Amino acid sequence: MKLVDRTKNSAAAVALLSLSTLSAGFLEASPAFARDAQQPVLTASAVAVADKYAADAAEQIFKEGGNAVDAAVAIAFSLAVTYPEAGNIGGGGFMTLYVKGKPYFLDYRERAPLAATRTMYQDDKGNVIPGKSLYGWDAVGVPGTVEGMWEAQRRFGKLKWKQVLAPAIQYARDGFVVDEQLAKRGEEASKEFGGKTNFDQYFSEMKAGTTFRQPDLAAVLTRIANDGAKDFYDGKTADLIAAAMKQGGALITKRDLQEYKAVWRQPVEASWNGYEIITAPPPSSGGVGLVQLLKMKAMLAPQFKDVPLNSPQYIHLIAEIEKRVFADRAQYLGDPDFYKVPVAQLTDDAYLAKRVAEVDPDKPSDTKSVQPGLGTSMPEKAETTHFSVVDKWGNAVSNTYTINGYFGSGEVVPGAGIVLNDEMDDFSSKPGVPNMFGVVGSDANAIAPKKRPLSSMTPTILTKDGKVALVIGTPGGSRIFTSIFQVINNIYDFKMPLKDAVAAMRFHHQLLPPNTIFWEPYQPINGDLAKQVEAKGYVLKGQDFSGDIQAIRIDGDTPEAVADPRGRGVTRVIQ
Ligand code: DON
Repeated sequence: MKLVDRTKNSAAAVALLSLSTLSAGFLEASPAFARDAQQPVLTASAVAVADKYAADAAEQIFKEGGNAVDAAVAIAFSLAVTYPEAGNIGGGGFMTLYVKGKPYFLDYRERAPLAATRTMYQDDKGNVIPGKSLYGWDAVGVPGTVEGMWEAQRRFGKLKWKQVLAPAIQYARDGFVVDEQLAKRGEEASKEFGGKTNFDQYFSEMKAGTTFRQPDLAAVLTRIANDGAKDFYDGKTADLIAAAMKQGGALITKRDLQEYKAVWRQPVEASWNGYEIITAPPPSSGGVGLVQLLKMKAMLAPQFKDVPLNSPQYIHLIAEIEKRVFADRAQYLGDPDFYKVPVAQLTDDAYLAKRVAEVDPDKPSDTKSVQPGLGTSMPEKAETTHFSVVDKWGNAVSNTYTINGYFGSGEVVPGAGIVLNDEMDDFSSKPGVPNMFGVVGSDANAIAPKKRPLSSMTPTILTKDGKVALVIGTPGGSRIFTSIFQVINNIYDFKMPLKDAVAAMRFHHQLLPPNTIFWEPYQPINGDLAKQVEAKGYVLKGQDFSGDIQAIRIDGDTPEAVADPRGRGVTRVIQ
């Protein structure tokens, strides 16, 4: 189970131990990193997270002397218990970090099982079988969260591993009071799974206002606290997962778990508007998409001049940019370990200037005319939740992780209480056939053993003069990076206070369906605005999901944290 370091910067080139060589010392004593002290540079540490239990966990960790990475890992395990619709140990994700003035990116995305095939979700006639990549055991990718947290905390944490697991174990063992939003999501998921998965056996007692306990999960977390990630990938928990998969007739075996690797990668970095953007590289499409969006909008400054935020003309110009980003996404983005993604070309200023020149300022350009910009021959071969954390030493963690749909595949590992993901749906089951988020893909995102499905998750950090300025991210599938883009615009182009920037209306276009603008329930496009947007040639479509931005902004030496009013997130600023 070797960890692979693809980070090129020298600070990242610390020795990486494999899990098999982990010493018991790490579980007992603070890691070496702790001995290399940093001076406080901020008045406080801060978090913005999806629920109050995770915020309490982070506060406890900071009070025990932990840093942003310790807090992030404690949050991730807590949310796996108290935010089971998306928080997880049965899924995967991405962590963007800024530690001691250096950027890092950890990819702990799920992988396809060893026995996966390109056409595994198609019938004999080559048609995609509806729901097969979304529900039940077949939909599950090999989970990466536990190894991701283990790796991040071992490399950068200050506290003992057991300390960061403690809050989650307590929530699982003693229970937590269920929020109305969670209870409602549980009921909806139960209806959606329709008794075809074992979801109800684990979650039917999860009622609003009552205490919900998860003893099986508490036992798993206790083993992970005692034995490290090894338990999940090569111990008792691995055996429980493999047995469940076998029982369900699905592909993941113990070998899949033993061979799982988290990967340190070079983040996507770009200069924009006086800031350095540090964001997610492939296998996310989000970082490339975000940089393309920000740069193209800056290049279109003359067209945007005096155009009011979220006016019909604003919506049109943004949709024109988004069209081109999604054309590139469908063609070029996939797992870089399998397909050489032309990141530098896709984010190159000269390339984007050429793309921007195609934008029609007056009307939507014809969808069919918008093709992937680098040509179709490759130039080189080639339910989610987010939390943001900064510590008073100036380190930051931006983490988005997921089991894809709410409560993932709907399957829970018997005897372990682990909700398993349905991340396999993020692959392109067949070229041109849309996935749950309506996005299509090509060869770059075809299924192959050990390959990671293309993601849109975009945990992002902005720095200025080497100091963290903004930590931001959200769930929302293909809406993730267009949402982050809009909030960044609101903050920096429209100079809105962080709270207003997060609360403001968001909309989305993704090339297909043609000239369709999606609006969200929190701030719908309706009335006169709707009429004017339709008059420009767009179709308006409502979606039931609004995103859940968690952001921290640092101006001077004091962090300000905002949780999206669309969710049940909370913030804490800890002196
Ligand atoms: O990785 C991705 O892009 C998706 N699996 C994320 C799913 C998501 O954001 C669901 N939340 N609404």
